[in-house]
Amino acid sequence: MLLSPSAGEVGAREAAVVVDILRATSTLTFALAAGASRVIPAATVEAARQLRREHPDALLCGERDGRRIPGFDLGNSPDEYRPEVVRGRTLVFASTNGSQAMLAAARARRRVPGAFVSASATARAVAGERALVVVCAGKLGGFCIEDAAFAGWLLRALSPAGFEPEGAEARLALNLAPADAAEVAAMVAGSAHGRYLSALGSEFRRDVAICSQLDVFQSVRDL
Ligand code: MLT
Repeated sequence: MLLSPSAGEVGAREAAVVVDILRATSTLTFALAAGASRVIPAATVEAARQLRREHPDALLCGERDGRRIPGFDLGNSPDEYRPEVVRGRTLVFASTNGSQAMLAAARARRRVPGAFVSASATARAVAGERALVVVCAGKLGGFCIEDAAFAGWLLRALSPAGFEPEGAEARLALNLAPADAAEVAAMVAGSAHGRYLSALGSEFRRDVAICSQLDVFQSVRDL
């Protein structure tokens, strides 16, 4: 388990669950459920613009400091990723932290978005994997509790399938795992990034509430 993208490597034989609760993997779970065809992560704004030149029909998506990047089609709010907007579209996606985590997992055999909104579906999607790495986006390379707490929730959910948590990070995460939907909502809303987003305004407060829900979706698509 990686508490931030730079904390280690993801091997080609491993499956990866990529976690950025606020908000990238929560948002992308909505986007994939709404029918988006593909997600291409971009490390920088300029890399995203270059990818758009290579994929002229793609939607440019992403945020810096939480807000939609000027000139981009979409920001990082789940509400934006409605079927009528994203169905059948490729998403070039440049968020501050989530994109880095997706790129860190680029070599993985598969990449599954980890989000509370699809937590049980994510557990079911990877329960048959022989080798699994949870890659937490964190914030600017540092620890963030909502991502680690999700990782703990997932590891606890996978325990009956025979998964053994490896390392101190996994044991820490297990201790952070929320017990129920109410604890999920309180922990995410009370997190540093949850409070930062909420201070940006009502639409961002709504994002935090949306990303704090447990098991909105009963299935999940790979990234
Ligand atoms: C991200 O999702 O990459 C970032 O954590 C920031 C955000 O969208 O608020």
